[in-house]
Amino acid sequence: MEVSINLDPKLSKLDHLFVLVAEGDKPSRWSKAIDDAGFAGRSDTAITIVSGEPKKLTLVGLGKREKLTIRAVRGAIYAAAKTAKKHRDRSIGLVLPYVVDPLSADETVRVAADALAQADYKYDAFITCNKDDKPPAISGTLIPVEGIDAKRAKHIESEARALAEGVRTVRDLGNTPSNVMTPTRLAERAEQVAKSVGVKCTVYGRREIEKMKMGGLLAVNRGSAEEPRFIVLEYAPRKAKRHVALVGKGITFDSGGISIKPAEKMEEMKFDMCGAAAVIGTIEAAAKLAIPVRITGVIPSTDNLPSGSAYKPGDIITMMSGKTVEIVNTDAEGRMILGDALHYASELKPNHILDYATLTGACVVALGSEASGLFSNDDELARKLIECGERVGERLWRLPEWDEYKDLIRSEWADMKNSGGRWGGAISAAVFLKEFVNCPSWAHLDIAGTAYAEHETARETRGATGAGVRVTVSFLESLSRS
Ligand code: BES
Ligand code: MN
Ligand code: ZN
Repeated sequence: MEVSINLDPKLSKLDHLFVLVAEGDKPSRWSKAIDDAGFAGRSDTAITIVSGEPKKLTLVGLGKREKLTIRAVRGAIYAAAKTAKKHRDRSIGLVLPYVVDPLSADETVRVAADALAQADYKYDAFITCNKDDKPPAISGTLIPVEGIDAKRAKHIESEARALAEGVRTVRDLGNTPSNVMTPTRLAERAEQVAKSVGVKCTVYGRREIEKMKMGGLLAVNRGSAEEPRFIVLEYAPRKAKRHVALVGKGITFDSGGISIKPAEKMEEMKFDMCGAAAVIGTIEAAAKLAIPVRITGVIPSTDNLPSGSAYKPGDIITMMSGKTVEIVNTDAEGRMILGDALHYASELKPNHILDYATLTGACVVALGSEASGLFSNDDELARKLIECGERVGERLWRLPEWDEYKDLIRSEWADMKNSGGRWGGAISAAVFLKEFVNCPSWAHLDIAGTAYAEHETARETRGATGAGVRVTVSFLESLSRS
């Protein structure tokens, strides 16, 4: 929804006001309503009161004040938006009278405004029936905690909008079905987004990919009827002192190829380009925020399908870097296309390389959907990313990428094989990627469990979540300060 931040809006203009209340707390202005309703503020509770001005007032419980988290705030805001949708409200207000520890007041307001902007998101591009049932667009007004001045509020509002647009781009790209979101279409969308924010975008087709000898990307693409694409986005603000390369896995559909996946849940593999989407959305947000850091986005894209020309187990592929890979499982395709992309990014000699990929089911087994897996050859970078993630409510959990794990991908016939088997599967994938990284400060985010929600959760609707954008924007901002 369209969000604004207003310290003292006219309540009579709102259809519905939502006040977030912690357990046992009574923010002074609302204490009468809280008393009248006997509202305790427990989490997952809400009560709607007919109040006059505005017409409807809903108290939303946050649980204990001392335990207030970004996730709890997000959940309460999502619940509020759901209620507003059911009521067919057009304009809502949201009061957040608290600062979430350890965030500053400003950070809290930005997190809440961004959550509010996402809260009514629904991907409905292909819904043609019951169009009249569609709830009206909502405009949301965030009424922040006291102590924020009006000028700051306007600034945070524009920041939250930039972030929300980036996240929205990722969600739309991810949710689009793979018959529409082909590599060609993904590249067109990247070009559109780039143009809208003044970023340079170069799209390479098969010929050029062949010339660059990207053996990994070409091998995965061999089974496909769609042309591969290699997309490079360049955001180069004048004042930039640092250069960060962002690499994203752009598999528009992953059937597994010849090592085909079981039918159950295979439809979820349209989300296998969410890493690519995260790169596009992050650059969009960063450009809108005018973050003074040079950013290069690198996206290899193809789908992974079986056919008479598909790459096969036993094949040996020469990658762009010259290293050779024995294919033992065509379903380990993400690392094949990323191997080339990471080599390409390394040649640009950026200060940091970050990659985003729905890379392994093993990562989902390890961490579920609460955290993305983080792998890095730079302790300082890893620490910073984790810290940035905590501040925006996007959790990263570090796993090792020790050389000892290289044994898992040792091959008799080539420099390495493309799968290390089941045990430590997320790690052997990261160790494979590391073989193609030539940069002392690299991090790999395995977002297989966080990029999309299989079911609706307490905080978000089903489908692509926008994972990666918030933590990366926060990291880029921290670089611009240091
Ligand atoms: N795209 C999948 C990983 C995935 C699985 C993402 C489940 C989201 C949910 C990836 O290409 C893949 O198939 N990985 C294999 C690797 C294995 C063959 C070594 C896996 O995880 O099973
Ligand atoms: Mn796969
Ligand atoms: Zn995949």
